[in-house]
Amino acid sequence: MPLLIKNGEIVTADSRARADIYCEGETITRIGHGLEAPPGSQVVDAAGKYVFPGFIDPHVHITLPFMGTLAKDTYETGSRAALIGGTTTLIEMCCPARSEDTLGGFEHWMAQAAGRSACDFTFHMGATRFDGATESQLREIVRRGISSFKVFLAYKGAFGIDDTELYRTLRLARELGVVVTAHCENETLVLERQNELIAAGKTGPGMHYESRPPQVEAEGVHHLMTFAELTGASTYIVHLSCREALAEALAARMRGVRVDIETLIQYLVLDKTYAERPGFEGAKFVMSPPLRDASNQPVLWAGLRDGTIQTVATDHAPFDFEGQKRMGESDFTKIPNGIPSLEERINLLYTLGVQAGRIDLQTMVNAASTRVAKIFDLFPRKGAIQPGSDADLVVFDPAHRGVISAKTQHMNVDYSAFEGWKTEGRPSVVTVRGEIAAREGRFVGDPSRGRFLRRTPSRA
Ligand code: URP
Ligand code: ZN
Ligand code: ZN
Repeated sequence: MPLLIKNGEIVTADSRARADIYCEGETITRIGHGLEAPPGSQVVDAAGKYVFPGFIDPHVHITLPFMGTLAKDTYETGSRAALIGGTTTLIEMCCPARSEDTLGGFEHWMAQAAGRSACDFTFHMGATRFDGATESQLREIVRRGISSFKVFLAYKGAFGIDDTELYRTLRLARELGVVVTAHCENETLVLERQNELIAAGKTGPGMHYESRPPQVEAEGVHHLMTFAELTGASTYIVHLSCREALAEALAARMRGVRVDIETLIQYLVLDKTYAERPGFEGAKFVMSPPLRDASNQPVLWAGLRDGTIQTVATDHAPFDFEGQKRMGESDFTKIPNGIPSLEERINLLYTLGVQAGRIDLQTMVNAASTRVAKIFDLFPRKGAIQPGSDADLVVFDPAHRGVISAKTQHMNVDYSAFEGWKTEGRPSVVTVRGEIAAREGRFVGDPSRGRFLRRTPSRA
């Protein structure tokens, strides 16, 4: 059924205008004033509301076997939570363990999503090992529609690769035109510091930060940048958290290294004092890299404003407080890392970014949608409002006032890191390729509408 969205203010990364949007089938076909829809069309009155391109989360974990447990969301729960929060495309980290076959991992992750996702999805393919077999499997995975890899410089023994593997992965990526996303922390420094802290009886969640101070992340970034410089590969630093790491990335960019930078909503709005909360409460806020000193937040917001930081993701990694985070009650190194936030990214960016005067609306759209689509070969199919683009649209009501709570969230996890926080604005209507999927905080769509998005590498 055709869909007409009338009277909204369309906000894209490079324009703002009041107009109607007409969608036929899965795509936007017309944008203009006073558009009419044939009888039987679905009409949404967006007067007083913004209309954004569907948001894209460039870094989520839905299927994640990690630290002896499994992340809680499935595609059924995760994609619905994403849509209610305005995210219409997920890019998941496909992370087979180092001991596992890469192609087998890709097929496993695909099987978790195919037919079970309400929103569209694709993957960054984890290169968690590199040998002859892995190389030919990575080539095959690129032929199947993947245009980005993921490497971990952290998590020794689990996902982390050594320098030979890193060099060869980047060389292959350069040859194939694939962008390499990277978790940058020096795994040796992390391990040594963890062992020292535990031996000294410093076992609480607040010690997680001490095991991974800013220098550990900055060294990881510096390390990746050296390898990127020598191979010529295009890189993307995931979850950058602090000024020291940013300085390394920007110094490399000044030398001509090809690097884009992602930060997370958590680093923009939470700080290390949350992980220092008394008792074991701080475990809810343990993630890697750790939450930083609050003085980093203005640096990250400024990076978004001036375009030195390209994207805002969630690194959604949902582990329950009871039963999962508690695994690390007597040893912080055993607390599953991650702060769930898939559902809240856009509402928090709007409330604490746009409404608080830290970024403007178009910077928000760019960092959470358009720029992501451009970096990861999805533009203009995604990230745009123009004829021919997929009709993924977010009608956003700036007048809504809400309160975040684990009791009302749709992510399948037993706590919220933002419990009791007040939000301003929320997605009112969210569409996936021309069909309404969410309305006023409720999922109303087709639970299996999501499709795998084939991408073609573009980093020649
Ligand atoms: O703490 C985090 N970030 N958990 C998810 C795994 C990762 O490093 O991205
Ligand atoms: Zn990571
Ligand atoms: Zn991650």
